[in-house]
Amino acid sequence: MGIRRFRTCLPLVAGLMGMLMPVIPVMAQGGSDERASADRPWMNTSLSPDERADLVLKQMTLDEKIGLLHGTGMAHTPNWQTPLTYLSNGGAGMTVGVERLGIPNIYMSDAAYGVRSSGENGRYSTALPSNLGAASSWNTEAACEYGALIGRELRAQGYNMTLGGGVNLTREPRNGRTFEYMGEDPLLAGTMVGNLMKCEQAEHVIGDIKHYAINDQETGRNIVNAVISKKAMQETDLLAFHIGINIGNPAAVMCSYNRINGDYACENKYTLTDVLKGEWGFKGFVLSDWGGTHSTEKASAAGLDNEQPMDHYFGPKLKAAVDAGRVPMSEIDDHAHRVLRSMFLSGLVDYPIEKSVVDVERGLDTAQHIEEQSIVLLKNDKGILPLNASRVKSIAIIGGHADVGMISGGGSAQVDPPGGNAIMPPGQGATHWQEHIWFPTSPLKALKAALPGAKIEFNAGTDLSSAAALAKSSDIAIVFASQWLSEGMDLPSLSLPDNQNALIDAVAKANPRTIVVLETGTAVTMPWLGDVAGVVEAWYAGSRGHIALANVLTGEVNATGKLAMTFPKSEQDLPRPVIAPLTKEDEGQGNGAVNGPDHVASKYSVSYDEGVKVGYKWYEAEHKQPLFPFGFGLSYTTYSYSDLKTDSGQKIVSFTVKNTGKRAGAEVAEVYAQLPEAAGENFQRLVGWQRVDLGPGESKTVSVTVDPQMLSVFDEQSNGWQLLKGQYRILAGPSSAETPLKGTIEIK
Ligand code: BGC
Repeated sequence: MGIRRFRTCLPLVAGLMGMLMPVIPVMAQGGSDERASADRPWMNTSLSPDERADLVLKQMTLDEKIGLLHGTGMAHTPNWQTPLTYLSNGGAGMTVGVERLGIPNIYMSDAAYGVRSSGENGRYSTALPSNLGAASSWNTEAACEYGALIGRELRAQGYNMTLGGGVNLTREPRNGRTFEYMGEDPLLAGTMVGNLMKCEQAEHVIGDIKHYAINDQETGRNIVNAVISKKAMQETDLLAFHIGINIGNPAAVMCSYNRINGDYACENKYTLTDVLKGEWGFKGFVLSDWGGTHSTEKASAAGLDNEQPMDHYFGPKLKAAVDAGRVPMSEIDDHAHRVLRSMFLSGLVDYPIEKSVVDVERGLDTAQHIEEQSIVLLKNDKGILPLNASRVKSIAIIGGHADVGMISGGGSAQVDPPGGNAIMPPGQGATHWQEHIWFPTSPLKALKAALPGAKIEFNAGTDLSSAAALAKSSDIAIVFASQWLSEGMDLPSLSLPDNQNALIDAVAKANPRTIVVLETGTAVTMPWLGDVAGVVEAWYAGSRGHIALANVLTGEVNATGKLAMTFPKSEQDLPRPVIAPLTKEDEGQGNGAVNGPDHVASKYSVSYDEGVKVGYKWYEAEHKQPLFPFGFGLSYTTYSYSDLKTDSGQKIVSFTVKNTGKRAGAEVAEVYAQLPEAAGENFQRLVGWQRVDLGPGESKTVSVTVDPQMLSVFDEQSNGWQLLKGQYRILAGPSSAETPLKGTIEIK
């Protein structure tokens, strides 16, 4: 489909749908020079995006402006269609441009860990490791490659806007979208998503950070009221967005489904206007999550610029409100200006889409390379890993469909696997957005290829005694355990589902040389931890996950990832041991993307009383010992930390990290701070890190400049940030729970 087909069909469509089409959505083709002329002064690329937007805006009618402020339906979703939906290139949404002025349509696609809906559209996309996995690399260059790959594949498939860049903090680890986000720390999550966005947008797609904000659980996501103090919001979830926006300069922010302190996030003046556009000076546009718009005047005044995917509130109703004087023209101009300047900023106008073949090989390389850095080695007793090719004669591979593939995360993030779902008969692919999809990336095959001298056998793990028997007769047993997550649901618990704990128990009893490989989208509890020799967290591993995993298991590549979220011992240790269930009257309308105009107000709410104590801060403050702490990850080599120095004036922390082992590796050296007593914080915060490559015996000086914002507190009285005077304790080391180096920074 696309531009050419639309041109051919245009007279017919216009005839049939005349009253719906004040704007003709054809995208102008050709380079910017060719189109720059006296009557199109906005094509002058030496002007700023704001100047260019102003020049176009002056030429636009009210209908054309309003056309920029809403969607035109959602491909593949029968109840969200308009006569223009078929033009959307198969994506989740489209906003029509202004053809007569050379302003293109905005073609939006979901693209969390790769471009969505490629299967339905007969295309191909690379699946990267989950966002949480990539965050575990703590590597900003990897985040950049991640974003650039998605940007390239969006463009190749005919899109010019991503609906990606999830950065909701992991406040609730059972959240079904945890794998789409970047973990529990605002600095790590914000920095990673910012670098991802920066490089994605550089490919000439509009970057989008989502879901703003406090959309931290999926249960009742369309109705839940998140109750949270301004201080807690500012220092946690909002801070992650702010850091991401500062680094990545994304042209768009998607507001979320939930309510925040009473008002829906897409009509919340505090978060949209006061903070995002006011305090942070965000100049791009805010689009609603799909069906997340609930009003016309209120949403418009609060700072929503673009309704998706329909025009229920920002179409004819918005025009009527302007005509009746209920919405001032200045508000419409501001919304339209924001959309236009975003198009100029990200290059949509100057670089029209040209569809092309996705660079499959390059994508696979990138996916593998990032996954190799994302895998976290959690336990390695007596050096059971890496597998020694000359010593290991036989390996039992058990469970997790490891003979055919590895599991992926579902919902609107889902990337379609080439060849279909590996555990279904050929030809049967995903039919539902919450299908459990296994990529055809078989760890069994990858390990056989990596260890040709070993006898490697597979047991499905469905019969515990036969699995145990195979484990017993093998040198080593590797159990593959998976946990599936998706948008639109939360996990009932962090326990591995489907009897997998019993399987691991049985195998570990039969052979203590058991390694567990986890394919999970969030933390899991591990009642069997003491009985197994090794644990490897592979996350949702992407299109080349099996090869990356085999490389780490065999030591071809050293393990370097570190957890971007805490793994608790039990749900009892979480701020909320259970997620409050929906009330009877709310059941059935809380979780899907289905919040229609007629939705009745709900009383369902969640109080985020833990406030600023998200993730590791909570465990430390509450004296709860986690199973694995934030920032933790082992390596096949060892490192030592020494010589911490601080420069209070410049806020620089420097120290030496040495590779004391025999293998090359990369160490993520982490720096934390404990604020002066006046801050009232009985926990440390991450204030910086550096990922350093070190050869055997090599030492390097790590130097981290701490951003004063990371040492500041939000003061509700003065509605601003304060850098308190006093002594700041500085701690550095390999994880949040191990910080051998101590020093101070003094703020006078
Ligand atoms: C999700 C968004 C997504 C949108 C469009 C919604 O259900 O919450 O993350 O971008 O659908 O598919």
